[in-house]
Amino acid sequence: WWTHVEPAPRDPILGVTENFLKDSHPSKMNVGVGAYRNNEGKPVVLECVRKAEAKIAGSDLMEYLPMGGNVKFNDLSVQLAYGENAECLESKRVASIQALSGTGACRLLAEFQKRFQPDSQILIPVPTWANHHNIWKDAHVKAQTYRYYDPKTKGLDFSGLVEDIKNAPSGSFVLLHACAHNPTGVDPTAEQWREISAVMKKKEHFAFFDMAYQGFASGDCEKDAQAIRIFMEDGHQIGCAQSFAKNMGLYGQRIGCLSIITDDQTQAATVKTQLQLICRPMYSNPPVHGALIVQTILSNPELKQLWLQEVKGMADRIISMRHALRENLEKAGSQLSWQHITNQIGMFCYSGMTPEQVDRLTNEYHVYMTRNGRISMAGVTTKNVEYLANAIHEVTK
Ligand code: LMR
Repeated sequence: WWTHVEPAPRDPILGVTENFLKDSHPSKMNVGVGAYRNNEGKPVVLECVRKAEAKIAGSDLMEYLPMGGNVKFNDLSVQLAYGENAECLESKRVASIQALSGTGACRLLAEFQKRFQPDSQILIPVPTWANHHNIWKDAHVKAQTYRYYDPKTKGLDFSGLVEDIKNAPSGSFVLLHACAHNPTGVDPTAEQWREISAVMKKKEHFAFFDMAYQGFASGDCEKDAQAIRIFMEDGHQIGCAQSFAKNMGLYGQRIGCLSIITDDQTQAATVKTQLQLICRPMYSNPPVHGALIVQTILSNPELKQLWLQEVKGMADRIISMRHALRENLEKAGSQLSWQHITNQIGMFCYSGMTPEQVDRLTNEYHVYMTRNGRISMAGVTTKNVEYLANAIHEVTK
């Protein structure tokens, strides 16, 4: 039956971890996958999560959730994205559904797009998180790209972006990273978001925000939602994928939310039934535990406050590692400019290293990262930053 099946290519991100685990060198470093580590290089369970777990221990955890998931969780999740007093929430015109983290939310949206806007295409930034391409491909949605990053300035290619969005057929879906763009760490300014929003309004494009890092860009969840808020002010009916993997450290719980702003309450309810119809034959209904943790944290003022402090703590540690990496590269005598390390934001540094330089970093220095030159700053610590800087200096001389 299966002799014709060829091995699938290794995943460009998760494959890095597979290689890292096989290496027994004592100095090995994993700066591949975007998963937060403390300064000891260890995964972190947030204190607010521990406290929430203690509160829910022994509760009725094992029942099925409805197809759309935990309704209280969905409500709290969209409040975080759109703002507590958002008009679209007050008028109940947001369809929201619990999703298997950000990936699952994007996949549901892509499927919904294919069913109900079958001729539309998705516009994907260059570069983007590698899995975005797979998600829309598997949903059989036609994909095009738009310019985003300029390797020369190591910043945003704003004019290229605007031009490509203007030239796309009206009614295109545009995939936007709400904050802390993965992999570049380069976000538009508020002013630039306003311009992008205006162009998209004119072209009647649909804005779909992937918000995997709320809180990680600035340490402030409200500020990190500024792009979404600007689009809402301009009257866009956006869609949004939220993930609590990074900002609550709930990676393996697969907890996220897909929401779509609609015309009114009736339409929101209708859209939700169709989203549920996509879930039912695929996985029936989502898991319980992660949603309950997030619900417990977001509905309890004390726990929410603790969470906000802890997100800020993670974001601040990453920012301090950006400075340390840059300083160590300069100390090592690198003649190149590393200013972009501290200019970029979020979990990643898009270093500008070539795939060949990355290969040398891995083969000669046991530093594991994606071949596009992305460094997960979350894996950098005060103990390994000098080693990393020296290794980068050696391969970029
Ligand atoms: C990443 O970009 O490293 C993360 O979003 C993890 C993943 O699933 O790829």
